[in-house]
Amino acid sequence: MPVVKVKNLYYAYPEGKSVLKGLNFEVKAGETLAIIGLSGSGKTTLCQCLCGLAPHVLGGRMEGQVLIKGQATTAYRLPQLACEIGMVFQNPDMQLVCTTVEDEIAFAPENLCLPPEEIRRRVEEILRLLSFSHLRQKNPATLSGGQRQLLSLGAVLALHPSILVLDEPMALLDGKGRRLVREILLSLRKEGKTLILVDHDVENVDFADRFLVMENGEIICLDRPAAVMADKEFLHRHQLFFG
Ligand SMILES: Nc1ncnc2c1ncn2[C@@H]1O[C@H](COP(=O)(O)OP(=O)(O)OP(=O)(O)O)[C@@H](O)[C@H]1O
Ligand SMILES: [Mg+2]
Repeated sequence: MPVVKVKNLYYAYPEGKSVLKGLNFEVKAGETLAIIGLSGSGKTTLCQCLCGLAPHVLGGRMEGQVLIKGQATTAYRLPQLACEIGMVFQNPDMQLVCTTVEDEIAFAPENLCLPPEEIRRRVEEILRLLSFSHLRQKNPATLSGGQRQLLSLGAVLALHPSILVLDEPMALLDGKGRRLVREILLSLRKEGKTLILVDHDVENVDFADRFLVMENGEIICLDRPAAVMADKEFLHRHQLFFG
């Protein structure tokens, strides 16, 4: 059974016109899917539909269905859905809400009422993973953009979701940060997590099993990276100039 199934999905923001126009695709457990496409093609909007923010929080009109592990996102309560599918936002400022780094990492596990020792264990695990131990008492607002982006990844990983949606997780990072995120993603993939990654730079997601290419709210290609990259005429026609 696919862990993500998108059936005839249309979505429009409140009082806006349709942004997603009839999407159909599935993601298997353990698969890495990279979503690529020009600015404004609807990648972030699709991520928000996958993790239930649209329409739960954003409102708007959604038609069709997004099924996570066989159940429609609209039939989940949001905290329950967040345990299945975690989303790292394109803009970390949309995500970070606490006044210290360690509180930020503990925030979602606390909302789930996990035992205090387990929360402490997860906070330490994430601080180690990001080499952030020296920043634990810092206010996230005082961190650099790249550090805030890493922290928003850590805050989602602390929930241990089996499906992760990452919207341009490397956009604000320098080379060292990008290598760290790449290592983390590769090890999550090895653990069998399902990854859905958005990136403008295909080199960052060259390990994906499939590329989903969006244009103007539609899927124009869903294929293996090698097949997409080999079709130079397609890349040129859709202004996707990679490598
Ligand atoms: N909150 C919103 N309300 C109304 N329209 C929106 C909202 N967010 C995005 N849009 C519109 O939806 C369309 C798709 O935007 P989206 O952010 O999904 O694109 P994207 O592919 O993620 O772009 P980028 O690569 O720049 O991040 C755009 O036309 C945008 O103007
Ligand atoms: Mg976006």
